[in-house]
Amino acid sequence: MTQTDVPPATDDVPGQATDDGPTPATGPQPDPGTPVVEMRDISITFGAVAALSGVSLRLFPGEVHALMGENGAGKSTLIKALTGVYTIDSGTILVGGREQDFATPAAAQGAGISTVYQEVNLVPNLTVAENMMLGREPRRFGMIDHRAMNRQAAATLERLGLDVAPGSVLGDHPIAVQQLVAIARAVDVEARVLILDEPTSSLDSDEVAKLFEVMRRLREAGVAIVFVSHFLDQVYEISDRMTILRNGRLVEERMVAGTTQLELVQRMIGRDLEVLDQLDREPASAAPTRGTPLLTAVGLGRKGSLEATDLELYDGEVIGVAGLLGSGRTELARLLFGADSADTGSVEVRASRRRLRSPRHAIDRKIAFSSEDRKGEGVIADLTVADNMLLALQASRGWLRPIPQATRTRLVADYIEALDIRPADPNALMRHLSGGNQQKVLLARWLVTEPDLLILDEPTRGIDIGAKTQIQALVADLAAKGMSVVFISAELEEVLRLSDRLVVMRDRRKIAERPNDGVSVSDVLEIIAGEARSEEETAHV
Ligand SMILES: Nc1ncnc2c1ncn2[C@@H]1O[C@H](COP(=O)(O)OP(=O)(O)OP(=O)(O)O)[C@@H](O)[C@H]1O
Ligand SMILES: [Mg+2]
Repeated sequence: MTQTDVPPATDDVPGQATDDGPTPATGPQPDPGTPVVEMRDISITFGAVAALSGVSLRLFPGEVHALMGENGAGKSTLIKALTGVYTIDSGTILVGGREQDFATPAAAQGAGISTVYQEVNLVPNLTVAENMMLGREPRRFGMIDHRAMNRQAAATLERLGLDVAPGSVLGDHPIAVQQLVAIARAVDVEARVLILDEPTSSLDSDEVAKLFEVMRRLREAGVAIVFVSHFLDQVYEISDRMTILRNGRLVEERMVAGTTQLELVQRMIGRDLEVLDQLDREPASAAPTRGTPLLTAVGLGRKGSLEATDLELYDGEVIGVAGLLGSGRTELARLLFGADSADTGSVEVRASRRRLRSPRHAIDRKIAFSSEDRKGEGVIADLTVADNMLLALQASRGWLRPIPQATRTRLVADYIEALDIRPADPNALMRHLSGGNQQKVLLARWLVTEPDLLILDEPTRGIDIGAKTQIQALVADLAAKGMSVVFISAELEEVLRLSDRLVVMRDRRKIAERPNDGVSVSDVLEIIAGEARSEEETAHV
């Protein structure tokens, strides 16, 4: 990787991180200049929870700085402390060498600190351009100048290589595109510091490459970029320096070059990782029993979202759905579940002649769907972890038959443990959980219903490497016990690790289906690219 403006790489900051205390951030490395942001000894508590204890962070102009740590380590909280969302209990924040304590995110933005939060925070029923220019709309004679707004937004989108119509309604786009729009909005302002909290979790490799290009350009222009991601490969590709947090404490700051992934993971979790071995584990391929299919889709389709698709699914089988962003993965899931209604074809369960027409039907037939849109369809922020977790089970029993208290307690405790949900407190409010931990609760919500078929759309998005492995193992285990799974993920490695059979999507249709007998990531990419090529060829005849 070549870069010009970043501080020179040094050897590791010496010193071993132990649980006894953090390594001081200031090791004897050459002075990389004056930080544009310096946070010193920041502490924040929420009630009894110490979310941050004495954490420090330095950001230098022209660097990409990865903020690393497990789910709940304090990454988002540290960012919100900097941007005035949270008030700090103690510590000092220096911006451009001057002490600052932003009262509001707008104040931070005014000082050149621009943030894209973990959850898309835009307004779905406004247009793309309106979202991008929100709060700083160009005006003419006191009125919002829509034409200028669209023009300006279009220019930014084009600069970022994003093919999105400025006048289209934001909510009509998939989450990944909405995420890119949020990033476009953030980079459009004059920023000295750009904070990206898990910007890539819903993006495919093409979009990630696009984003990285933008980040490199901004870095060259001297912007300090904070990057949060649970994808270690991405962190290594783009970052220069990193700060590692664990349980709300600083472990250390160090250069990315010279740190192995294994070292990084050890420092993040504070112990050796048995799960890293599991990562190389063969998929649990208990050959699914054939017989009557659990589910049969015939000619299932919907105008504009999926061309007529056939699919059969057997008990205990994991079908992995691969395909790029916009290929129709989510659309297939929604049609299978009845969340969207089909224009053509039908879905039958256990060869029953009654067709699935709505989520209600699907749930009655023990089909569950964990949607990719956790903010829109999932998290109920003001309820507890236990209530969120039991919601689907309660709904399927009917609201007049409450789940017995002892069963509630046992189920919730079991899944808090199985998924390592933190805090391990059934009564914690959902809004107080970190992003990754909320995601685990949503997954548990469907697991507790013990479905025959579980449709998982991006279940491990935003989940740290340790917990991700746990979830994969859990899914494999349930499948071995007879549950069928449709597993959708932008991460091809994960799809390949888990599935018995592979469905590859492109341009809103199924282009291939095959047993997963040693299929590699590049095989899948070739299938997708091959299809693209053959389309070009046909286009030329
Ligand atoms: N408003 C709040 N009230 C109570 N606790 C909170 C609040 N916000 C965060 N916490 C707690 O602070 C800790 C740090 O959470 P934070 O969201 O910063 O984690 P994170 O590192 O961003 O994790 P993830 O990778 O899952 O996004 C967690 O234990 C979380 O439950
Ligand atoms: Mg977070």
